[in-house]
Amino acid sequence: MPNPSRPAWATLTPAQAQILARNEQAVLQLIERGGPLTFSEYMNWALYDQDHGYYAQHEAFGESGDFVTAPLLSSHLARCLAREWAPILDRHGGTIMEVGCGNGQLAADTLEALGRLGQPPTRYWMIERSARQRAAAAARIATSVPQWADRVRIVADWPDDEATIIVGNEVLDALPVTRFRIQDQEPQPLLVAAPEGRLRYVVGDATEALRTELADLALPDGYESEALTGAFGFLEEAARHLGHGVILLIDYGFPRPEFYHPDRSGGTLMCHFRQHAHPDPLILPGLQDITAHVDFTRVAQIAMRLGLTLAGYTSQGAFLLSLGIGEDAGGDDAPGLRARQAIKRLTLPHEMGELFKVIALARDLAVPLQGFRLLDRRRRLLG
Ligand SMILES: C[S@@+](CC[C@H](N)C(=O)[O-])C[C@H]1O[C@@H](n2cnc3c(N)ncnc32)[C@H](O)[C@@H]1O
Repeated sequence: MPNPSRPAWATLTPAQAQILARNEQAVLQLIERGGPLTFSEYMNWALYDQDHGYYAQHEAFGESGDFVTAPLLSSHLARCLAREWAPILDRHGGTIMEVGCGNGQLAADTLEALGRLGQPPTRYWMIERSARQRAAAAARIATSVPQWADRVRIVADWPDDEATIIVGNEVLDALPVTRFRIQDQEPQPLLVAAPEGRLRYVVGDATEALRTELADLALPDGYESEALTGAFGFLEEAARHLGHGVILLIDYGFPRPEFYHPDRSGGTLMCHFRQHAHPDPLILPGLQDITAHVDFTRVAQIAMRLGLTLAGYTSQGAFLLSLGIGEDAGGDDAPGLRARQAIKRLTLPHEMGELFKVIALARDLAVPLQGFRLLDRRRRLLG
């Protein structure tokens, strides 16, 4: 249904308008039949529903899509990761699982780089919820690294195997979250309802689970934010599939005191449509990406509860510099200039260098991690 309050940047092509009308009708019917959705249910539907979800239906990535991720900017992240992985694969042997691999660029570049280092993994699992992205990933592997294709398996869910390395770039931010508002000093879940045929938040009843999740915080009335409720199941699966080795997750976010900072009183939700970022997930259902920043303290606490060790936490900039990204800068020719531009974007604090963080969660890892050599901020997470 057309929304008169839609901003100018969200002007749609006729095809997009048709898809949106279909999506809006589908979500309204869902709410009519079952009542208001929790925000987590809504986010799950808007991103992953097979018929209407954003990742199921749209070409999300790249300059021509809605957003760009580090692997799409250049192969530098992959080359740094390969330098981290090579001694681990050498010592512990080798299977890598990449969760939320998107269009497969990171996997292709990592395999290429590990091949050059003479340390290819015995198996590279690519786990991706979206069938559309899995197809794109298969094509990427076939065209970019056909020599390693027989070691790659692309699957929708965690395979029945054990990994030495589990890696995910920008997957935590895509996990459905619980949205809440503090009212009468209690966290109340915000549900997605459809009064008069429009998607709107309504306040639901407080739950014990949400109270417990936020028990260590004293947030003022009116404060709205998200709780990373999808992280537990995700980390539980990751921990279950990790042998001796490391889980490394890269994403934007903060330690808990910064995540729930008084100034961040509207939360951290961020939506992307045609390279435009905005905070309203209720517009353009199924047509835009919806993400939440990551509460890395919560990730560390859950991981430790699952028996893992917090093996490192730092900024993306410090991680890449520790792994020698500067040495990949190249010469003064056009490719060298492009490489330097990408390195700046990945490492400078006002670009992706500081907002993006890297967390390492380990089990009996016998090899020291190099990516936290220059700066390890583990204490900030748990202090
Ligand atoms: C923001 S994209 C990042 C893609 C890629 N890692 C990159 O950096 O370009 C997040 C991807 O994670 C996938 N995803 C989200 N949750 C997942 C899960 N639990 N298991 C597998 N894939 C998941 C989404 O379908 C999407 O393709």
